[in-house]
Amino acid sequence: MLISGRGSNLLALIRAIQERRLDATIAVVISNVADAPGLEHARLAGIETLCISHRGWPQRDDFDRELARQLRARQVSLVCLAGFMRLVGRPMLDAFPHAILNIHPSLLPAFPGVDAQQQALDYGVRIAGATVHFVTPELDGGPIIDQRAVDVQPDDTAASLSARILEQEHQLYPAAVATVLAGGWYLQGRRLVRSDGADRHAGG
Ligand code: GRF
Repeated sequence: MLISGRGSNLLALIRAIQERRLDATIAVVISNVADAPGLEHARLAGIETLCISHRGWPQRDDFDRELARQLRARQVSLVCLAGFMRLVGRPMLDAFPHAILNIHPSLLPAFPGVDAQQQALDYGVRIAGATVHFVTPELDGGPIIDQRAVDVQPDDTAASLSARILEQEHQLYPAAVATVLAGGWYLQGRRLVRSDGADRHAGG
């Protein structure tokens, strides 16, 4: 997993694994910020942590090459970003094709980028939410794996809306990771399709 900050989604994944709702192992948690509070969740759970700063590399891609090298060395098959505040570069995308996930606090494709909850409030939408998607070179633009909707209340602030979206994120991310790891799906263009047709609408 890659984080930069608080790590509440990391904690949600750790708990889902501990409670056997998710059959997975977190091999390593890498932060580009040395004092990211989320690293403590990993340490308490006995998960290896690494800090790799994005600063000080001769070229931008060198940081991504190092991330990919460390993840490959641990035989990682799926990379989960949670609050990782860097664009993922070519070396990582090439090393993990269709195997890097991100969670974003909006119903994409609405409100990509930073401050998604404030963007949603400013726009005046009545329904906000969260999205788990595959990472591609386009910021928050990859194929969608799953989404959760959250009603916007008239008196919402960015903080109150973010808190309700976050509750949904903590359920959505483990479920989406489970979906991806279970297999039995393929991508048709941007669409994630279940091979068994289970996501077809009745009569459709
Ligand atoms: C979450 O809102 C996530 O959707 C966004 O960054 C935030 C990270 O929170 N990408 P946390 O570090 O997982 O608590």
